[in-house]
Amino acid sequence: MDSIVIEGGVPLRGEIQIHGAKNAALLLQCAALLAQGTTTLRHVPLLSDVRTMNRLLTHLGCRVEGERTLAIDTSGVAEGPLSAPYELVKTMRASVTVMGPLLARYGRARVSLPGGCAIGARPIDQHLKGLAALGAEIELDHGYVVARAKRLTGANFVFDKVTVGGTQNVMMAATLARGTTVLENAAREPEVQELAIVLNKMGARIRGAGTSVIEIEGVDELHPVDHAILPDRIEAGTYAVAAIITGGDVLLRDAPVDHMHAVLAKLEEAGAELRVEPAGLRVRSSGTLRPIDVSTRPHPGFPTDMQAQIMVLASCAPGRSVISETIFENRFMHVPELLRMGADVTVNGSTAVVRGPTRYLGTTVMATDLRASASLVLAGLVAEGRTEIRRVYHLDRGYEAVERKLAPLGARITRYHDARA
Ligand code: UD1
Repeated sequence: MDSIVIEGGVPLRGEIQIHGAKNAALLLQCAALLAQGTTTLRHVPLLSDVRTMNRLLTHLGCRVEGERTLAIDTSGVAEGPLSAPYELVKTMRASVTVMGPLLARYGRARVSLPGGCAIGARPIDQHLKGLAALGAEIELDHGYVVARAKRLTGANFVFDKVTVGGTQNVMMAATLARGTTVLENAAREPEVQELAIVLNKMGARIRGAGTSVIEIEGVDELHPVDHAILPDRIEAGTYAVAAIITGGDVLLRDAPVDHMHAVLAKLEEAGAELRVEPAGLRVRSSGTLRPIDVSTRPHPGFPTDMQAQIMVLASCAPGRSVISETIFENRFMHVPELLRMGADVTVNGSTAVVRGPTRYLGTTVMATDLRASASLVLAGLVAEGRTEIRRVYHLDRGYEAVERKLAPLGARITRYHDARA
C-alpha cells in the first residue's frame, strides 16, 4: 500500500497542468455504451476510478484500449452480461450510471446496489424513480437492481432532490426513448453539461443542460464520437489552495475558470490574488489570509468536493471560519486527522467551526476518502516537519500523480511503495 511523505513549509512556485475532469470522464465512459462502435475519449486523467470504469466496461463486453486517449469499442456488449457486479459498484458509485445506457440500448440492465458509503448513505432512489417514469420495470433481486423495458418512453419527471448522477443516468436513458422527456430540478454541474454536449455530438437532441430543466427528444440511435474531456475544476481548486496556503505563486494551466466561480470567490475572500491568463489561472498568496464562511451547495454553489480542501485554507487564516456541508452527511472525516496535525475545528452536525491560524505539525495520518486525502496533502504542505499520509489509494482515485505535479514546484513530496497499512 503506497504512502506519501511531505516535508512541509516550501512556497510552491511554477506551473501545474490541470488534467481532464474525473467526473466527466467516468460519465463519458458510460455514454460510450449508447452507441455501436468505437468512441474515442481524449485528455483522460490517469486515475484509478477511470481504470475501475474500464474494468466494468470490459466486464460488460467492451474492448477498451489506451490510457490518456481511450478507445472504447462496444461491439461485444450485446453478448455480454448487461450486469454491473457488486465488486465494482462498491468501489465506485459512478458504476450505477451504466444502468441508463444499458437499459435504453439493450432493454435491460442488472446493477448491484452501491450499499453504504463512507461519506453517507448515498441512495439511488432518484435514478430508479426517473427510469421508472420513462417506463422501466424495476425490481430488486438479491442486492441487485434489475431494470427492463422494451423501449423507454419520454416523460416529464421532477427530481425530488438535485442529484448529479441521477440527472446523468436518466438523461442518457432518455436519449433513446420514444418521444420527449423533460427533467426538472436537474443538476446543473458542468459535468452534466459536458455529458449533454457529447451526447448531442453522438446524435442526441438535448436542450437546457446546465440549467435546472433539461429537454431530451428521443432518437432511434446514437453514433460513436471523438471527444476531448474538459479540465477538472476540483483538481484546479485543490492546487489553488496549495498555492495560497504555502505563500506561493502557481499557474494552473487550462484551469476551467468559468466553472469555478463559487470557489474562486471564496479564495479571493480568503485573501488570494487570482489572475486569469491566456494559459490558465495564476494563483498567488497576498500574504494575508482572512477567515471565510462556506456552505456547500449544488452547482453553481460551492462544491462539496472542495469542502475538505477549503477547510485547510480556512484553518490557516487567523480568526473564526464556519463551514457547512449540506450535500452529504458524514463528510467531515478529514477533521480528526487535521486535529491530530494541530487544527482547531469543532464539528456540530453538518457545521464545522474552524479557528485559525493553525500551526500544523507533521505526523502520520490516514486518508479516509478522496477529498479528505487531498486535505491531508494540503496540511502536509504547510506543516512543520514530516507528514506521512497512508492509504493514498483514496487520493489516487481522483488526483493524477500528486507527487509528480507538486515536486517540480519545490514541494518536498515522495511516494513510497511499501507494505505498511
Ligand atoms: C457526484 C460526483 C461527486 C460529488 C457529488 C455531489 C461523480 C462521478 N461524482 O456524485 O464527486 O461529490 O456529485 O456534487 O460525478 N441522493 C439521493 N438519491 C439519489 C441520488 C442522490 O438521495 O437517487 C443524494 C445523495 O445521497 C447526496 C445528494 O443526493 O446526499 C447528492 O448526490 P449526487 O449528486 O447524486 O452525487 P453523485 O452523483 O453520486
